[in-house]
Amino acid sequence: MNQSHFCEVQAKPISCAIYGMGKAGRSLFLSLQKYGIAVTCFFARHPQKLQDFAKNFPVDLIPVHSKFPAFSESLQKTKTQILFLAVPDDAIEEVAHSLRYQDFLPPLIVHLSGALSYDVLSPISKRSSPAQFHPLASLSGQHQIPPGTLNAICTPDPKAEQILFQLSRQIKLTPSFVKNGMQPFYHVAASITGNLPIALLSDSIYLMQQAGIDANLARKGLAKLLRSTAKTIERKQLANALTGPIARGDVGTVKQHLFTLKKLNNKNQIESVYRLLSNQLIHFNDNAEKRIQFQELLAAEIPKKNP
Ligand SMILES: NC(=O)c1ccc[n+]([C@@H]2O[C@H](COP(=O)([O-])OP(=O)(O)OC[C@H]3O[C@@H](n4cnc5c(N)ncnc54)[C@H](OP(=O)(O)O)[C@@H]3O)[C@@H](O)[C@H]2O)c1
Repeated sequence: MNQSHFCEVQAKPISCAIYGMGKAGRSLFLSLQKYGIAVTCFFARHPQKLQDFAKNFPVDLIPVHSKFPAFSESLQKTKTQILFLAVPDDAIEEVAHSLRYQDFLPPLIVHLSGALSYDVLSPISKRSSPAQFHPLASLSGQHQIPPGTLNAICTPDPKAEQILFQLSRQIKLTPSFVKNGMQPFYHVAASITGNLPIALLSDSIYLMQQAGIDANLARKGLAKLLRSTAKTIERKQLANALTGPIARGDVGTVKQHLFTLKKLNNKNQIESVYRLLSNQLIHFNDNAEKRIQFQELLAAEIPKKNP
């Protein structure tokens, strides 16, 4: 891109519109509202479903129909500068195609996907600058985006980059630039940390139930444990944040864990996951002798009966 679509508009104060009132769209709306950024319109396929949500806010709820002429008029009338597309990843390209036929488009059109490049917005890129703006958080739509959330930004337009960086700061996020084309790396990282612990928690709840703990109580207790780990990781490097038998060098405890997991005949994937991930933790222990003991133990076949 060799020109910015921002060159002819006044960049301040920024005004935004949001297309899609799902979880991410509503959380973004709450963040923008909270920090005083104007949200001119909210486009939704079924705005009547969302009257309750929006009745406390000075924003126009505008239905999106197949031709939706109200769309262009509203954006032009309100001099909206940024349009956020808060629709599922798979719908972004289709929505971008439908926008091509609008008389007016804002200078910056931004999707919220972590996985996709701004290239998915190519249908509008001759008239608006395309961008990606992904808050690295699990959003429910009931609360603003948590302050401090890492916010991945990617756009070919340096002016748009600057504006999105400032906007991100204004809504108390932590902006960060992701390399275009490398979004899949970013997103698989987000998925490993954001989604895969649910699989580990599911196994942990099962194990706690074997010990007589109610599943709901186990879920809440384990979530608090996860939260305490996450809080420590915010403050400390991983090596210093790690607790538990591998960090302490308690080889006997890990041995006992392996014997216990061996007893779960029908759940042997838990043992495999335990071995695999524990192996990844060994290098955090700075005692070379202990590291060898853990390596040997985690590689060894464990008899079903504790000798
Ligand atoms: N939720 C998160 O934690 C999170 C975090 C960061 C980024 N994101 C990103 O935010 C975007 C939206 O995700 P979400 O979680 O908010 O999804 P969502 O809760 O399913 O909401 C999607 C919204 O898009 C509308 N929509 C669906 N298909 C559409 C189409 N073909 N045309 C027009 N509107 C359509 C839906 O309308 P109806 O209500 O009428 O179905 C709904 O309002 C995605 O790109 C996602 O990757 C999500």
